[in-house]
Amino acid sequence: MSKTIPQALSDLKSHRDSGAVSDLRAAFAAKPDRASRFTVGLGDLRMDFSKCAVNYETLTLLGELAESVGVETQRDRMFAGDAINATESRAVLHTALRAAPDADIRVDGENVVPQVHAVLDAMGAFSDGLRDGSIRGATGKAFTDVINIGIGGSDLGPVMATLALAPYHDGPRLHFVSNVDGAHIADTLEDLDPETTLIIVASKTFTTIETMTNAATARDFIVSKLGKAAVAQHFAALSTALDKVEEFGLKEDRVFGFWDWVGGRYSLWSAIGLPLMIAIGRQNFSDFLAGARAMDEHFQDAPVGENLPMLLGLIGIWHRLVCGYPSRAIIPYDQRLSRFPAYLQQLDMESNGKSVGLDGQPLTTASGPTVWGEPGTNGQHAFFQLLHQGTDVIPVEFMIAANGHEPHLQHQHQLLIANCLAQSEALMRGRSTEEARAQLLSSGASEAEADRLAPHKTFPGNRPTITFVYDKLTPFALGRLIALYEHRVFVEAQIFGINAFDQWGVELGKELATGLLPVVKGESTGDGHDSSTLKLAETIRKMRGE
Ligand code: F6P
Repeated sequence: MSKTIPQALSDLKSHRDSGAVSDLRAAFAAKPDRASRFTVGLGDLRMDFSKCAVNYETLTLLGELAESVGVETQRDRMFAGDAINATESRAVLHTALRAAPDADIRVDGENVVPQVHAVLDAMGAFSDGLRDGSIRGATGKAFTDVINIGIGGSDLGPVMATLALAPYHDGPRLHFVSNVDGAHIADTLEDLDPETTLIIVASKTFTTIETMTNAATARDFIVSKLGKAAVAQHFAALSTALDKVEEFGLKEDRVFGFWDWVGGRYSLWSAIGLPLMIAIGRQNFSDFLAGARAMDEHFQDAPVGENLPMLLGLIGIWHRLVCGYPSRAIIPYDQRLSRFPAYLQQLDMESNGKSVGLDGQPLTTASGPTVWGEPGTNGQHAFFQLLHQGTDVIPVEFMIAANGHEPHLQHQHQLLIANCLAQSEALMRGRSTEEARAQLLSSGASEAEADRLAPHKTFPGNRPTITFVYDKLTPFALGRLIALYEHRVFVEAQIFGINAFDQWGVELGKELATGLLPVVKGESTGDGHDSSTLKLAETIRKMRGE
């Protein structure tokens, strides 16, 4: 019989207090094969978590926690299409978007896989046409530039993945506009020619104010030069709200649909991935889906102790719920993954930033941590000081490819690798005050000087890190990495006991913004708003000369 959740958590806390792995340096010295014991893999992907303060007992206890929650049962329900998004009564089936064509995944009794592949085929035909120039603009010119207008899940994924897969980008130039700040679209349109520009409006709901406002501006850009009749040829839409798209004036062959069982932050695999497909082509996009599928299969089949998403989630829980660390940093040593931390912020924080459980009762434990990050080596020269010597312990997740895409710049890639490995080693080892003092003395400092400076040059060490290594950042490798993190968020959500698939927390600000627009425009006095908000609005109006 499995333990209760409180019992499993309490056992983990006692285990932590017993100091089983309180000194990582000593743990490595005691077990020279520690790295092989605590590294798991899938294909060429390796996840080394040996620099986290865990041992076999920790893993056993974490496995018991997963069992007490029924993580595997919940996982199977998700893959089977059960309505696990309970507050919205929806299935959660982003995994169906990358399932093999012969898979059978049912929602309300209907196999959704044929619909998924029908949309993929339509996307493929459209992107082929754009890429080979057979689909042209109103004046007969081929499209050289594509603008994706979307925000949140309708932007972050395509932006991140297009940048990540730049070496495979052989289609038209891509631009992404998300912010309602007019500067974003103005800067983007500045150098573009309406005759050769295609605009994709990406919005699951087709109501998001930022996207609809930018779409209207883009429409003016096309209409002012090419006339209203050009809209149909210069626009495409990605949405689940097909009725609303029709009102915008687009023909069926320019609309790529998806379904309410695809969450916005899980939608990169759906029609929302069209910009990426246009950039890298149908085959590379298919490899990207295959990478995610490989992770899906692994997540379903591998035993907990070898299962990357399970282990990544459980170690996340160890750090968050047992050790109490408030945030985690994602540091890709890969410049092309520079938007990956931002992508994971939405994936993780919009999913697991909740305070009530599935039963609507306040949580009695913490939920998701703050997720943040920047690529290395840049971060080393900015915030790594705090990672090494700050008062908070922040677990770090590093990622590095064995091979870059620049064979002529081997030396630079080797430097990148050395830096990545050095940072995790430094965070783990630290440097004692005695070592710091000895180093100062050997470099000629006086005893007094060494005493004075040694505390400043001391590093506590024991700072946990996970390092992911993969051969090369191919479309397959990227798909696999994203799916790994999707499933990690899922595992953690089960243990927090929350619904990872709604996002009611974004609503209040949206409602208030709608109410404040007339105040900002001076059309309303804003009854019901607080004096700070109203005073700020008034100050801004004065500065605007209104
Ligand atoms: O405001 C949050 C959110 O609903 C996200 O969940 C979503 O990814 C984003 O807005 C964009 O929504 P849509 O695709 O419907 O425009």
